[in-house]
Amino acid sequence: MRDPNKQTIFSGVQPSGHLTLGNYLGAIKHFGTLQDEYNCIYCVVDMHAITIRQDPAGLRRQTLELLAQYIACGIDPKKSILFVQSHVPAHAQLAWVLNCYTMFGEMSRMTQFKDKSSKHADNINVGLFDYPVLMAADILLYQAHKVPVGIDQQQHIEITRDIAQRFNGIYSDTFVIPEGFYPKVGAKINSLSEPSKKMSKSDENPNGYILLLDKPEDIMRKFKRAVTDSDNRIIRAEGKDGITNLITIYAAATGKSPEEVEAEFAGKGYGAFKPAVGEAVVELLRPVRETTEDLLKNKDYLEQIYQEGAEQANAIARRTLDKVYRKIGFVKR
Ligand code: TRP
Repeated sequence: MRDPNKQTIFSGVQPSGHLTLGNYLGAIKHFGTLQDEYNCIYCVVDMHAITIRQDPAGLRRQTLELLAQYIACGIDPKKSILFVQSHVPAHAQLAWVLNCYTMFGEMSRMTQFKDKSSKHADNINVGLFDYPVLMAADILLYQAHKVPVGIDQQQHIEITRDIAQRFNGIYSDTFVIPEGFYPKVGAKINSLSEPSKKMSKSDENPNGYILLLDKPEDIMRKFKRAVTDSDNRIIRAEGKDGITNLITIYAAATGKSPEEVEAEFAGKGYGAFKPAVGEAVVELLRPVRETTEDLLKNKDYLEQIYQEGAEQANAIARRTLDKVYRKIGFVKR
């Protein structure tokens, strides 16, 4: 399954909420298509999730739900490695080593830390601060060449590269220097209720986001209520963030270009367009939701997937960790 002639892709998603249409169109939808070209490794990063307080039963459920959704979105466990971060101890072990090669000052500049600590001012824990180093360990353990993530993760990719280069500089080549792999234009999906902001599951208004597991009637309702301007023309333009976002979504859901969408709806109004976007999204997500629901009924199958995934991931990760331990001077056991 691992082809030494192919580059490696690693990506992780936190099981700290539910996946949105934005996650799907921006990233996860493309994971499946990468499997033939690369050795792909996809991880449910439960250790990152606990940097924000989680309800234990919820975390357990969401971890399985995310695994099921990964598969439903097209990740084939026969082609890719699919595993849970806490099942592979090398993540925590390498993160500790890398902590000692990461400067307090450079970590203090991380914008996600600043954002999250202002949002969770009552729980600014050291894990939250250290989050990027654990992420660096995730990526570097697998000698990943490419890391598909949203553009908001760019700073974390940069610090991963800095840490890897620093370590390689001191101890000779140890880590592949990874590159961020950012989705192309059109994949950035904004909120339906505040269309100038990114669609996010942490949005307080659930009408702002579409979840992959939302029921068709909820999807239709959210699109019918989507915030738009009042000029009633279906074109992309400044000041028309809502309609521009809906055009992007309709285009991505149907595989049409934004120009084709504008032509299709020329002379029609929002009353025709909004339900059409809703229906396109319902059809896009229907197989994902149905497959996820079926998989969640089959816990034995999911367990088999994450057990096998952990074994394969562990073998690769252990090799890198051994190399690191040897280079820094730990006595081999
Ligand atoms: N920080 C990433 C996010 O919030 C999740 C993540 C953790 C990740 N470890 C990773 C992504 C390694 C890519 C590679 O989206």
